[in-house]
Amino acid sequence: MVRKLPRPKQSRDFSMTTIAGFLTDDHRHCDDVFVAAEQLAAQGRWEEAQLRCGEFAGAIERHFAREEDLLFPAFEAATGMTTGPTAVMRMEHRQIRQMLASLQEALARRDRNDCLGITETLLLLMQQHNAKEENILYPMSDRTLGASAAGLVADMQKR
Ligand SMILES: [Fe+2]
Repeated sequence: MVRKLPRPKQSRDFSMTTIAGFLTDDHRHCDDVFVAAEQLAAQGRWEEAQLRCGEFAGAIERHFAREEDLLFPAFEAATGMTTGPTAVMRMEHRQIRQMLASLQEALARRDRNDCLGITETLLLLMQQHNAKEENILYPMSDRTLGASAAGLVADMQKR
C-alpha cells in the first residue's frame, strides 16, 4: 500500500524564501522518510525500517529545532504571545517525540502489530499538527515578521 499524503494547495505561496514555503517543504521531506520507514516495517524488513526510522528521527528533530529554537522565539517576540499557538505546538512536539520513542522501541522488538498501530496514530498526529502550522502559524509568522522572515529562513537553513 502506498500512502497518499495531502500536498499543499497550488494557490499558496510556497517560495522557499518564506517561512511557510521552507517549513512546509521540510514537513514533506519528514513525511516521505516516515512513510518509507512504515512500509519497510509492514514488510518485516526490520533492519532497514530501523535505519529509516533513525533517519526520520534525525529529520524531525532538526525540524523541531528550527521551530523551537528559531521560529517560535521570533514569533513570540514579534506578537507578545507566549502562551498561544507556540505553547500548543511545543506540547504537540513532546507528544510526537514520545510516540516516536515508542515506535523505535516496538521496531527493536520486531513487533509488527505495535509498529503498525503506532505509525497509524503518529501519522494522524503529525498530519493534524502540520496542518495547524501550515495553515495558521506559518502564514501568521510570515505576516508578523515581515522583512525579517527571509533572514530567519536563512538561519533555519543553516541548522
Ligand atoms: Fe513543523
